[in-house]
Amino acid sequence: MRPLFLPIYASLAALVGGAAIPLALRDDLYAEDLPTTNVTDSAAVPSETATVLSIAAADPGYWLKDMPRKGRSPFNPDPGYQVFRNVKDFGAKGDGITDDTVAINTAMASGGRCAPGACQSSTLTPAILYFPAGTYLVSGSIVMYYNTQLIGNPNSLPVLKATSNFQGLGLIDGDKYVGSNQGWPSVNVFWRSARHLKIDLTAIAPATGATGIHWPTGQATSLQDIQIIMTASSASTHQGLFIEDGSGGYIGDLTITGGLYGMNIGNQQFTMRNIAISNAIVGISQIWNWGWLYSGMTISNCGTAFSMSNGGTTSQSVGSVTIIDSTITNCPAFIDTAWTPNASPATGGSLILENIVLSNVPTAIRGPNSATILSGGTTTIAAWGQGHKYTSQGPTEWQGIFTPVARPSSLLDGNGRYHIKSKPHYWEWTVSQVMSIRDAGATGDGVTDDTQAIQAALNAAASAGKILYFNYGVYKVSTTIKIPAGSRIVGETYPVILASGGPWGSATNPVPVIKIGNPGESGRIEWQDMIVSTQGPAPGAVLIEWNLAASRDSGMWDVHTRIGGFKGSNQQVGQCPIQVPVSGACMAAYMSMHITTSGTGAYLENCWFWTADHDVDEGKNTRISVYTGRGLLVEASGVWLWGTAVEHHSLYQYQFANAREIFAGFIQTESPYYQPAPDVRNSPYPTTQAINDPTYANCQSGNCDALGLRVLNSKNIYVYGAGLYSFFNNYSTLCSNKPTAGGTKDCQSEMFSIEGSTDHLWMYGLNTIGTMNMVVQDGKSVAKWSDNANDFSDTIALFTYRI
Ligand SMILES: *[C@@H]1O[C@H](CO)[C@@H](O)[C@H](O)[C@H]1NC(C)=O
Ligand SMILES: *[C@@H]1O[C@H](CO)[C@@H](O)[C@H](O)[C@H]1NC(C)=O
Repeated sequence: MRPLFLPIYASLAALVGGAAIPLALRDDLYAEDLPTTNVTDSAAVPSETATVLSIAAADPGYWLKDMPRKGRSPFNPDPGYQVFRNVKDFGAKGDGITDDTVAINTAMASGGRCAPGACQSSTLTPAILYFPAGTYLVSGSIVMYYNTQLIGNPNSLPVLKATSNFQGLGLIDGDKYVGSNQGWPSVNVFWRSARHLKIDLTAIAPATGATGIHWPTGQATSLQDIQIIMTASSASTHQGLFIEDGSGGYIGDLTITGGLYGMNIGNQQFTMRNIAISNAIVGISQIWNWGWLYSGMTISNCGTAFSMSNGGTTSQSVGSVTIIDSTITNCPAFIDTAWTPNASPATGGSLILENIVLSNVPTAIRGPNSATILSGGTTTIAAWGQGHKYTSQGPTEWQGIFTPVARPSSLLDGNGRYHIKSKPHYWEWTVSQVMSIRDAGATGDGVTDDTQAIQAALNAAASAGKILYFNYGVYKVSTTIKIPAGSRIVGETYPVILASGGPWGSATNPVPVIKIGNPGESGRIEWQDMIVSTQGPAPGAVLIEWNLAASRDSGMWDVHTRIGGFKGSNQQVGQCPIQVPVSGACMAAYMSMHITTSGTGAYLENCWFWTADHDVDEGKNTRISVYTGRGLLVEASGVWLWGTAVEHHSLYQYQFANAREIFAGFIQTESPYYQPAPDVRNSPYPTTQAINDPTYANCQSGNCDALGLRVLNSKNIYVYGAGLYSFFNNYSTLCSNKPTAGGTKDCQSEMFSIEGSTDHLWMYGLNTIGTMNMVVQDGKSVAKWSDNANDFSDTIALFTYRI
């Protein structure tokens, strides 16, 4: 629960009610054909072929709905607590005539769930709201409760259709305002998603403010396979997606048409991928941020494709943006920026573009006073940027072209873009092809040892070519579980694997909890929507170890670690209070994830490896001190990390050691709040040379905290956006505050370290917070924060390193 940073804008009402950006050029923009997205996984957007022809459309089968309902929340006092809720069972009609708002919100709320404004957070009340095909008329917001997934039938996307007199901030409201406060601090909204939905705002008059999805969220959240339809009108005040703050997150596979803003969004950071926006006045309005990666954007028939000029030249509120592998068509301008060499803050408005195809876009970059900074046309921008750059020639402020990453072909798809694979939905599969973990004998009751049942089910499902469905539960295991090649694993919301006792008792003898393949094995695995945890103490637990030489269709999507801080972990407020000598009972894990030398081809998307800083099942979200050794260690060649985050591990967050060909974007870290008490050199986890643990022998100042990223003896490392944050010093934020607020900017001395024979390292949009030195090379400072100050973070737009 990091501090909440409020964006710079006059008032919420101004954003929602249509602070219209004046632009002509609208009347010829309307087109009724939706842009087609093109994703390599044909299963990702099945809805393209499944038009809703009539509001009484039959509901095609979908295995996820048709499975026997066996999810249980073992720590919920109600043994009958219902995890899966079909909205039609709660009275929703989906007939396009009946107002279904109350029925849907009843389905959301039933069972004493964690409601906005009434409950800080809870892992005890997870739920899926399932929408069969149909048109659901809504006159008010569908208000998300904590730990919820909204899932539509991907074989015939359900439509959420606003009535003409709709009231609310979003047809889907991910964090409802209760009075003038958000229901939850947005940086504390974890574990939720929505997918396979159509959102239709066309009945609302253009001049009446309207929002498709309001989504101020934190980590481990996602939106996927959603269409948002708004009328195109020069008077439109509508916005498809609205995010005013938070600490995201991942969003992908969206199609948005019409409106004032396709997306009107601000947040600390996000990874957004494969989003088509057309016929909006402004495709994307970036309200504020620290850093952001956009990839695979298709923006067409807009006034301005991407506006990042908010705040103007004297107070740019957008920190940094990276856009790659995208296509802009028929827009008068691609980018609107307020950047000038003398603009404030010094590194605000940092921008990197790589592999952008323009088609009939007269102005590529438009600066203050509508000056053309870069003209466009029909052309490809190989690489262009503005901000501070650090190369072998030293630091400079620049605006213009640069030499982009020489992309290794092993990391690319056939179209020259970085390899992507969206979370598979198995929309065409049937119940007979899916095995339930509970039917296979696992209890998920949080008490029984389910090791044998889980291993037998994994083996059986993989050899039969079936999906293994983890009904919601907390599955206690006592020895390593091996995921064999051929596995397809789907969680119901985010079921938990809980490592308890067993072989995990020694901080010098690491043992995996989940092992993906053995070294030397090859094949495919697909794993989604799950959490791996420990029941403390477990100082020897490596939560996930990836050894498999993976085929290209492998991946982990929305698979997270959550270490301590929840019911069942035995590492809550009562056991692990802050600011006491390190307690052995709170030695929670050896490492979150290890991609070993044999783990070629690992693909991670929207994975959050979190050692808890607070107790999510305690009413006040009180802080705790739970100690985990290491975050994510990558030793493999050929790895994709799309939208990953690693937080509060004792020795480092990310380490790439002897790794090659790594694509990483956007990566986000936070240092432990307790450091430097004890500091990283006195970590409760002894270091070991065998896995190249950093020893911090060169740490200069008193503030020796864990690195956000260490790159050792590695080749071809390409980081497309990073936010490496240190907010706390022994639980005080004085060290990360702005100097104007008395901040000292010295929570730790160094954050990103390049060592040994590392060569060919490109980093775009590096943002750090609370570190004196942004980059150190073999113990020597290369970049100081004070030379690169942004609004709250410190930013280097382009950092390249070659021996
Ligand atoms: C989609 O991508 C594939 C592979 O790059 C290509 O062959 C196909 O023509 C594309 N389809 C569309 C509609 O662009
Ligand atoms: C950390 O802060 C606490 C509370 O202010 C204080 O009692 C303790 O001495 C501090 N520890 C160190 C090592 O500075």
